[in-house]
Amino acid sequence: MRLVFAMTLTTQKAATRVEALPISTLYQQVRARTLEIVAPLEIEDYVVQTAEFMSPPRWHIGHTSWFFETVLQKYQPGYKTYSEDFLFFFNSYYEGFGQRIERPKRGTRSRPTVAETVAYRTHIDEHMARFIEQVSHHAEAENILQILRLGLEHEMQHQELLVYDIKHLLCDQFDAPIAAAPRAIETVSGMAEVDGGLFELGYRAGRDAAEPPAGMRAPHFAFDNEKPLHKVFLQDFLIDRAPVSNDDYLEFMKDGGYQNFRWWHSTGWERVNTEQWQAPLYWEQKDGEWMIRDFAGLHQVKDKLNEPVSHVSFLEASAYAKWAGKRLPTEAEWEKAASFSPALNSTREFPWGDAPPGENLGNLFENGLWGVAPIGSFPQGQSPYGCQQMIGDVWEWTTSDYTPYPGFKSEFDEYNDKWFVGQKVLRGGSFATPRVHIRTTYRNFFHPEERWMVSGFRCAKDR
Ligand SMILES: [Fe+2]
Repeated sequence: MRLVFAMTLTTQKAATRVEALPISTLYQQVRARTLEIVAPLEIEDYVVQTAEFMSPPRWHIGHTSWFFETVLQKYQPGYKTYSEDFLFFFNSYYEGFGQRIERPKRGTRSRPTVAETVAYRTHIDEHMARFIEQVSHHAEAENILQILRLGLEHEMQHQELLVYDIKHLLCDQFDAPIAAAPRAIETVSGMAEVDGGLFELGYRAGRDAAEPPAGMRAPHFAFDNEKPLHKVFLQDFLIDRAPVSNDDYLEFMKDGGYQNFRWWHSTGWERVNTEQWQAPLYWEQKDGEWMIRDFAGLHQVKDKLNEPVSHVSFLEASAYAKWAGKRLPTEAEWEKAASFSPALNSTREFPWGDAPPGENLGNLFENGLWGVAPIGSFPQGQSPYGCQQMIGDVWEWTTSDYTPYPGFKSEFDEYNDKWFVGQKVLRGGSFATPRVHIRTTYRNFFHPEERWMVSGFRCAKDR
């Protein structure tokens, strides 16, 4: 029996700037999309945890509501906590918000039930609707608007995690509403030449100053970890015009990539041996032939050669790059190749310019593919250097450690700042990233051995 949600589908198809939307509309759209994503699940699917690193769908539904309940607790006078038990079960890792269930145990309980969790979500939405209606009268209105936007960006991060987790849970057993994949319009090969020199890395505050948000409209947004804008020096470099494809990666595998220690970092070689890695996650062998399982089913790799390789760890990406006689780009190199226009001598918000992402510019969640698109499907989305598919399809590993930029100031305790150790930066978003959630300056981060998320890469080289 499937849960039927009363909310209507409000996936935003048009490429309007999110800052043009009232915050109440953005709130409704984002909250509705979480329920759209889980709609094809059966009730039993909501509570199962298939690995320590994933969370059951029920937990995401409750946790994203918990985030908004903390806003109500702080800013809505007289708000009564819904349930102390729910606070415990749906807090993720925030020490400042009290005790919480350990992450690996999120799937060990059948209560709160899915129906109770959805009722909690509805309760929070009702209170939030009234709260947002009156927020303009609040003394801290501007600050609250920023927190609301953060709460929605947080929810979009969880929407993407839901896609990863549902894939891990069900993969092709999930009845995803998959749209037809685009065809490659052109062949994309070779490397782009990028000149070095001083480059301003990070989010440019006031980028949209010409159109300041008015009234209760969604404020401009970037995470604190993308700031401040600062100068870095780059050497001249080359960077792949396209992500590394399954075809490329299969060559590495056929050449004994997983059998030869010389391509691997020490921790990578250790993983290859302890985890028996022989291929990316979701690849399996059938009658001696490599197959890829995704939301659409089980496919022969030879039918997917021209697609970006995905579900590889940093360790595998690095090994491939070494084998190919290349290296991974730094995040500054990636960002320059994605955002800098030599003709304008400035950066833009996206590879194609400052217009928000649309259907023909990159493969993001709203494209509805639930998978990667062939390389060469989005020539209109290329950067001035001719790099394609930098936004969407797969998050791209960089060689950069996830650390604060010089001058970093935390804007929200425990959100980004507590993760500044032991992780690598990925850039560009994936097919599971909502359009309003991505920018070229966005810094995602995962541990080097993780690969259940939609992660791929492109290589760079010194000139
Ligand atoms: Fe969270």
